[in-house]
Amino acid sequence: MRILVTGGAGYIGSHTVLELLNRGHEAVVVDNLVNSSEKALARVEELTGKKPVFYNADVRDAEKLDEILAKEPIDCVIHFAGLKAVGESVAKPLEYYDNNLGSTIALLYAMRKHNVKHIIFSSSATVYSGDNKVPLSESSKTGNCTNPYGWTKYMCERILRDTATADPTLSVVLLRYFNPVGAHPSGRMGEDPSGIPNNLMPFISQVAVGKLKELAIFGNDYETPDGTGVRDYLHVVDLAKGHVAAIDFAVEHTGTSVFNLGTGKGTSVREMVEAFERVNGVKIPRHYAPRRPGDLAEVYADPKKSANELGWKAEYGLDDMVRDSWNWQSANPNGYDTED
Ligand code: NAD
Ligand code: WQD
Repeated sequence: MRILVTGGAGYIGSHTVLELLNRGHEAVVVDNLVNSSEKALARVEELTGKKPVFYNADVRDAEKLDEILAKEPIDCVIHFAGLKAVGESVAKPLEYYDNNLGSTIALLYAMRKHNVKHIIFSSSATVYSGDNKVPLSESSKTGNCTNPYGWTKYMCERILRDTATADPTLSVVLLRYFNPVGAHPSGRMGEDPSGIPNNLMPFISQVAVGKLKELAIFGNDYETPDGTGVRDYLHVVDLAKGHVAAIDFAVEHTGTSVFNLGTGKGTSVREMVEAFERVNGVKIPRHYAPRRPGDLAEVYADPKKSANELGWKAEYGLDDMVRDSWNWQSANPNGYDTED
C-alpha cells in the first residue's frame, strides 16, 4: 500500500517509515522539519535501500496538501505531525492548539476531497485521566488533562471520532502510546531532541555521553516500590511495528478503534537508570529532586486489546531499550548533526 506519513522525518515517524518500507509498503512523507532532520530519511534509505518520497511542507497548508494528494495516490494516512513538548505547550498554548488541531483538520479535509478512507493517529496515554487505576485499558476514563499538549491529543481524538461518525466509510485508528524510547538497533537512527531533553531516556543518554552533568530524579517519595515514578517504556521499533499492524486493521474495519501501545510492564526511574548503567557499563551521576508538577506515580498499559485485535505485542525488553539508546547516542553525540 501507499502510505502518507505526516511527521515522517521525526523520531517515531522515521522508524515507522523504515518498517513500512521493509514490509513492502511505499511511503510519502510530509514534514516541515520543525523538530527533525531530513537526514533521518537518508538513514532510512541507507538501511532499507528504498527511498521514501519527501515533501517539505506544513500539514496545515491546505493548498500544498491538496497538490500532494492530487499527485500521489494514497491508501492510508499515518498522522504523526505535531508538537509534543509538555512544558512548551504550557508556555505556548496557541501554537500547540494551532499546530496539532490545525494539521489534523486540514488533513481530514484533504482526505475527504481525495477520497482517502483510512487514518492512524498518534495519540498518547496522556489522554487518560489521572484518577484511573492502573493498568490503563482503552475504556479507562479520559480527560482532566494536565497541560495543553494533552488536551490537543484529547481534542484531536474527538475530531477524528466525530468525522468517522459523519462518514461511516471512514476508518480511524487511535493509537495511545505509552513511553516510546530506544533507537534502531543499527545505531543509525534515534531520538534527537533539540535543547535540553524533557524526557527521561534522552536525558540519561546525554548525561552518559557527557553533554549533561547529572540526572535529577523527580521524586523519591511516590507510593511505588522504590519511591520513584513508574512508566511503561516501549521500544520505538516495537512501536513502529504497531503502526504496520494498525494499517492492516484499518483496511478491514470502519468506524473508530482505540488501542494502547505499551508493554504492560511498569519500570521505575531508578530501575531505568540502573539498567542503563549495568547494560552499557557507564556511570550516570544523579540526585533526587522534588516531584515534577503534573507527574503521576504509576502509569502503565493494559496491552490485551492490541494483542487480541491487532495481533501486536512488544518484543523488546528494558535491556534492549537502554542498549539501543546508548548505541545511538554514543555513535551520534550530536544526533543527526554528528558528522558521518
Ligand atoms: P517528533 O517531534 O520527533 O516528530 C514530529 C514530526 O512532526 C517532526 O518531524 C516535526 O518536524 C513534524 N511536524 C510538526 N508539526 C508539523 C506540521 N504542522 N507540518 C508538518 N510537519 C510537522 O515527535 P515524535 O516523538 O516522533 O512524535 C510523533 C507523534 O507521536 C506526535 O504526534 C507526538 O505527539 C506523538 N506521541 C509522542 C510520544 C513520545 O513520547 N515521543 C508519546 C505519545 C505520542
Ligand atoms: C518519565 C519518568 C519523570 C525526566 C511524557 C509526556 C507524555 C508522553 C511521553 C507524548 C517520570 C521522570 C523525567 C528527568 C526524571 N509524550 N524523570 N528526570 O512524563 O511519563 O510522559 O512523555 O505524548 O505525554 O507527559 O515521560 O520521560 O518525561 O518521564 O526523574 O529528567 O521519569 O518524573 O517519572 P512522562 P518522561
